[in-house]
Formats: sequence, structure tokens, C-alpha cells
Amino acid sequence: MRTQHACRYYQSDPVPEQVFYQAVEAARFGPQGGNRQPVQFLIVTDQDKKNQLGEWYRIPWKAYYEAASSGQDEIIADSGDVKATHITMSNPVKSLADADNFADHYQDHPAIVIVLADLEETHPTDTDLGRLSIVGGASVYTIAQNFCLALRGQGVATTFTTLLCMFEPQIKELFDIPANLSTAAFIVAGYPAKPFPTKLFRKPVESMAFLDSFDRPLAAT
Ligand SMILES: Cc1cc2nc3c(=O)[nH]c(=O)nc-3n(C[C@H](O)[C@H](O)[C@H](O)COP(=O)(O)O)c2cc1C
Repeated sequence: MRTQHACRYYQSDPVPEQVFYQAVEAARFGPQGGNRQPVQFLIVTDQDKKNQLGEWYRIPWKAYYEAASSGQDEIIADSGDVKATHITMSNPVKSLADADNFADHYQDHPAIVIVLADLEETHPTDTDLGRLSIVGGASVYTIAQNFCLALRGQGVATTFTTLLCMFEPQIKELFDIPANLSTAAFIVAGYPAKPFPTKLFRKPVESMAFLDSFDRPLAAT
């Protein structure tokens, strides 16, 4: 978990099918509401299809990148009927340059794994609260993160991306995806070009976990 980063540079070697198989085999044991198992994976290695995904990815990405480069915190990028929201980066300058390079080469990364979910089977319990629902995602992203960790355990790096979800209608058509499935994530996967990191930038435990009340941060001892 400490070294499973957003990998921006990959070797060109393909990831063998059995490596993906092992990752899904382990990932499927994640929890889902009612054990309804709504998640499906589509592993894309076809170059023409990756080229198309890369073209679509760069539409919201470049809008974000240009605004982020000029110092804006949040952008709404308009590309026809497609809207891009912001992505938060921890280390602005290098992260952004690396992420931009990653975007320029989106189609060159060895595999793009489309995580799909049958939303009817996600069992959300927070749809009547007058705010954005989050619970349904918990039946999907547990499995997706398990998948990334299972790949990491086999030496394969990943980057979780969601910008392409804006193109769900086009992508469903491109891949002939069944009507009941929605796009939840596009996980780029491949062997890393550089060693896995030893330290990722994250908030300290004391700032994000509490015991009984918010004036009592969780302590190590
Ligand atoms: C829900 C989600 C959506 C993300 N979408 C994108 C994306 O579209 N493009 C991208 O370059 N990175 C995306 N990321 C990657 C994050 O930027 C990355 O996880 C974060 O900066 C931490 O990176 P690190 O683990 O290398 O420190 C996404 C991550 C998550 C969890």
C-alpha cells in the first residue's frame, strides 16, 4: 500500500494475461453491498482502441493542465457535452509535468483496464440525502483497489484514472459494452520504467483519524 503509486512511466513490455488473471482472481474477494458482485473488467491492449482512448483522455486533461499550469485550483473544462472537474495533485510542479507526459503517452502504456459496474447491483444507501451519493462506489472501488494492489504484488505498476468516464457513451459504443454496465475507472497498467517509490506524500495519521471525538487524534501509542 505504501508503494502502490500513480505510475507515470512504463516499460513497453506487455503484462502477461495470467498476471491480470491472478490480479482479478485476488481482487474479487473485496466486499460489496449484499455480495452482489457488480464489477467487471475489460483489459484493453489493442493499439487502435488505446489510440482512441488517448485522444479522448487528452481533451479534459489538457484543459485541466493548462488551467493548473497557470495556477488555478479548480477547473471546469467544457468540451461539447463533456465536463472535466479538477484533480488534486500533492506536489504541483513535478507531479503535473509527469502527469502531462503520462497523458501524452496514454495510448503507449501497455494496458488500460476499464473497470465497469452494474449500478443496479451496487446497493447505495445514501441516495435520499440531497447530496452526491458515495455509497454505491464502495461496492466497486474496493475491488478496483484490490486489483491495483494485486498487480503491485506481482511487480506491475498502475495509475488510477477517471477522466475517461466522461466519454462513457462513446466508450460503450467503441467496446460494445453491455447496456447495464457503467464505467467506473480506467486503470493504466504496466511494468514501471523506474523503481517503485519508497515514500508517497500523504497526510499524517493524526490529521485524519480520531478516537471517540474529533478533539482526540488517533495516537501511535
Ligand atoms: C478516483 C481517482 C481518480 C483519478 N483520476 C486521475 C486521472 O484522471 N488522471 C491522472 O493522471 N491521475 C488520476 N488519479 C491519480 C491521482 O492523481 C493519484 O492517485 C494521486 O495524485 C496520488 O499519487 P501517488 O500515489 O503517486 O502519490 C486518480 C486517482 C483516483 C483515486
